[in-house]
Amino acid sequence: MAKRGRFITLEGGEASGKSTNLKLMASWLNSQKISHVITHEPGGTPFAEKIRNLLLHTESSDPIAENTELLLMFASRAQHVKSVIEPALARGDWVVCSRFSDSSYAYQGGGRGIDVKKISALEAFTHPDLQPDLTILLDLPVEVAFERSKKRASADRIEKESQQFFERVRAGFLSRAAAHPERFQIIDATQPLEQVSQEVIGLLDRL
Ligand SMILES: Nc1ncnc2c1ncn2[C@@H]1O[C@H](COP(=O)(O)OP(=O)(O)OP(=O)(O)O)[C@@H](O)[C@H]1O
Ligand SMILES: [Mg+2]
Repeated sequence: MAKRGRFITLEGGEASGKSTNLKLMASWLNSQKISHVITHEPGGTPFAEKIRNLLLHTESSDPIAENTELLLMFASRAQHVKSVIEPALARGDWVVCSRFSDSSYAYQGGGRGIDVKKISALEAFTHPDLQPDLTILLDLPVEVAFERSKKRASADRIEKESQQFFERVRAGFLSRAAAHPERFQIIDATQPLEQVSQEVIGLLDRL
């Protein structure tokens, strides 16, 4: 039986550099000849991408209720864990995932104000035996994130939220990191990209 792969999640708010660093992580894993799967949430399977589309691009004439948003996040996660993440780890691949349950705590818990107990119940239901071996939090002040986002194309439903919402998201991530120091590593994402990437790769190398 293959040795179980490592599960690494990349977390952080909008424009914190997740996609950029995900690409660099993929090239490092290739250079090390480590077989791996690079994926993201919400989404990561064809069906889960349909849920992502509902979550991010639904008309505002019929607003998504907070509980609906939370349940859809976990519905897409259930599909992703079962059909992509668990099989990959079982065959010995490393899995690097941009956003995972910590994002639900930060956005639906911190941002929307849903009771953490509801989120932890869904987490325990959706992936009772799975936690990341390493979670890299790219931490960025909200003003800097807004500056970076301005340079990009149109915002999706969640990206249109207020500065206060994203302040609560950031605080939510930091409190998750404080509660789980055994797996979290916080990187200051205001640093130049080379510095951030060097720290990200350093963490992978240690693992
Ligand atoms: N350390 C950095 N310094 C300056 N700019 C950066 C840095 N890291 C990423 N950027 C730039 O910031 C923008 C957002 O980066 P990226 O798309 O990787 O973020 P993201 O976390 O994936 O965002 P989203 O959550 O919206 O998908 C890009 O234009 C990217 O080039
Ligand atoms: Mg991205």
